[in-house]
Amino acid sequence: MTAPLIDPFARPISYLRVSVTDRCDFRCVYCMSENMTFLPKKELLTLEELDRMCSTFVRLGVEKLRITGGEPLVRRNIMTFFRSMTRHLDAGTLKELTLTTNGSQMVRFASDLWDAGVRRVNISLDTLDEQKFADVTRWGRLPQVLKGIDAAKNAGLRVKINAVALKGFNDDELLRMTEWCAERDMDLTWIEVMPMGDIGNEDRLDQYWKLDDLRTQLAQHYTLTDLPESTGGPARYVRLEETGQKIGFITPLTHNFCESCNRVRLTCTGELFMCLGQEDNADLRSALRNHPGDDAPLEDAIRSAILRKPKGHDFDYSRQTVDGRVSRHMSHTGG
Ligand code: GTP
Ligand code: 5AD
Ligand code: SF4
Repeated sequence: MTAPLIDPFARPISYLRVSVTDRCDFRCVYCMSENMTFLPKKELLTLEELDRMCSTFVRLGVEKLRITGGEPLVRRNIMTFFRSMTRHLDAGTLKELTLTTNGSQMVRFASDLWDAGVRRVNISLDTLDEQKFADVTRWGRLPQVLKGIDAAKNAGLRVKINAVALKGFNDDELLRMTEWCAERDMDLTWIEVMPMGDIGNEDRLDQYWKLDDLRTQLAQHYTLTDLPESTGGPARYVRLEETGQKIGFITPLTHNFCESCNRVRLTCTGELFMCLGQEDNADLRSALRNHPGDDAPLEDAIRSAILRKPKGHDFDYSRQTVDGRVSRHMSHTGG
């Protein structure tokens, strides 16, 4: 038996998020600048290398794998990788294979994902207004994503909607989005906007909408019951008694959830980030590439990286400044 991964704060690491590409077919204003320079292909882990990485983590006790990007479904031949992970689901070592997507390619891939063993997907959708959707994603179009959501549901996938809470942008859609998700039996999670990446000249402090406020507004219209959780993610959930639906809050800024952190992130170039909100990372790609056919050096590199996992992030919007800013883009680390 290999020893499980335990960090210095006694947190077992059972959840790996993997960014399979830094590219995306959208340019969301809080995530990317309009003109992004993407990585050259040779920097990326190949699909075979991704398999070796993930399989090693599964051997070390990772039970939940979330594929992200960028937009994971724009990576060429990505279904080959999903299908290769099915063997770990079949073996029972991997409990969940899932992804976070913008939904743009769902029509094409929903049933393949189901066949590979995916049962839940998180789809990002910040607004139900066509013009606002085009504004916030710059390159995205709402009808395409709505068709993607339908396709996912028709394929049998459970869909959770992720919305980034943006003051002056979607605060007026709180009830409409809630009802729309309830009608479709989808859970909805709101995320506080995080200071990541140089995204141009706008001021994130202006967009920051505290989820405490959002919760108060919701409580004026629905009966909220706190749920003990959990999906193994950072969201705290309430149930709306009137609709039965779950609403999640991801509040890295107002309520830190780091003490129960169970996850690490692998970028598409094979760096392991032990925290979304810190710069420290470990280069796993050389441990992998320099030792073909021998996973022991990779295992060692993973174990020593986990021993450097920090207690938490330093994001902070208090004092009217944005502190704890992280220079890399969310698309690099995969959200
Ligand atoms: P489930 O609970 O399995 O649905 O997944 P999740 O909420 O972990 O995954 P999802 O990809 O939907 O995460 C939504 C967003 O939450 C991410 O894109 C991040 O913005 C944020 N998030 C997830 N994990 C962390 C974390 O460890 N720290 C911080 N600060 N934010 C996180
Ligand atoms: N702050 C909070 N959430 C973000 N996302 C992307 N960038 C940010 C940010 N700066 C969200 C996306 C998607 C998930 C992958 O991360 O909207 O739901
Ligand atoms: Fe693409 Fe997601 Fe970033 Fe939007 S938030 S640009 S959909 S990676």
